Amino acid sequence: MQRIVSGMRSTGRLHLGHYLGVIQNWVNLQNDNDCYFFVADWHALTTKYDNTKDLRQDVIDVVIDWLASGINPEKSTIYVQSLIPEIAELNIYLSMITPQNWVERDPTLKDMAKILRNKESANSQISYGLMGYPVLMSADIMMLNATAVPVGVDQVAHIEITRDIVRRFNNLYKTDFFNEPKPLLNHCSLICGLDGNKMSKSYDNDIKISDSEEVTAKRIMSAITDRSRIRRDDLGHPDQCEVAFKYWQIFGDETQVDIVKSECEKGTRGCADCKRQLGALVNERFKEIRERRRYYEAHLNEVHDVIREGSEKTRAEARKVLTEVRNIIGMY
Ligand code: TRP
Ligand code: SF4
Repeated sequence: MQRIVSGMRSTGRLHLGHYLGVIQNWVNLQNDNDCYFFVADWHALTTKYDNTKDLRQDVIDVVIDWLASGINPEKSTIYVQSLIPEIAELNIYLSMITPQNWVERDPTLKDMAKILRNKESANSQISYGLMGYPVLMSADIMMLNATAVPVGVDQVAHIEITRDIVRRFNNLYKTDFFNEPKPLLNHCSLICGLDGNKMSKSYDNDIKISDSEEVTAKRIMSAITDRSRIRRDDLGHPDQCEVAFKYWQIFGDETQVDIVKSECEKGTRGCADCKRQLGALVNERFKEIRERRRYYEAHLNEVHDVIREGSEKTRAEARKVLTEVRNIIGMY
């Protein structure tokens, strides 16, 4: 049994990349582990501090998508980062012991910095808070003394910094209090966006968990196929079908994939028909999840209760860790 902590930034409604890459993994882990999942609204502020009008709604939307996807509040604890002020205090202690070049080396942060610099807006500088991104993440994880952190591949570099910070804390204060958390990766293949790039809301190439069946079907019709194919009876190349065939491999079973492959190669399967079938398959897969989503949208008080109860439970846990940390460091 592991003590598991993981989070997602409050980016609003989630897409299938979040579901397949992370949430599904969480759903499986919650059955035999002690799981804590939180919405990282402070982390959202590291880049979106100048546009906060949707922040509250974004937090709620993320939690609704989790509940709809099968995160069960009877098994997992769901909370909101900013409701746990203990994390901010732990963040201060960790920021004191973290060498500046550890955060400067963080590859994900370097990419973010590059994107911000290219924006050239008045506030395109990198804030002090953004530089602290991996330290704050470490505070999230260490706040509950996690042993494992299930994340997408893009977050692994951050977790490596957390492990370094844990070792440094334990060495400096001659303790073995903090566990070295290990990243848990999902083995499912990464789903790309409809245009073949990384699936992302900002590229407008995503399918949302919350999209209707009509929208999903329509969006899938725009997925890229084998670009060399023009007419229905042109011989197709599934391995060059950049998006649609990859989706078949993710959502279809072996027999379905075999049929698509052979019909495509023989030129007896048109891309439009192929994507119509694919849309139906994806809609079938998300049917139950979407029904649950509608339930929670209509019962928002239940969502707020889950957040409030989960945050209270987490705070109680966090206070224990913080008392220990203050003692170990020797605070007044
Ligand atoms: N950085 C993560 C993301 O962008 C969110 C996150 C914040 C997180 N703190 C964390 C993930 C701690 C795992 C553990 O989605
Ligand atoms: Fe891709 Fe299907 Fe078209 Fe073949 S028939 S190229 S698998 S969309």
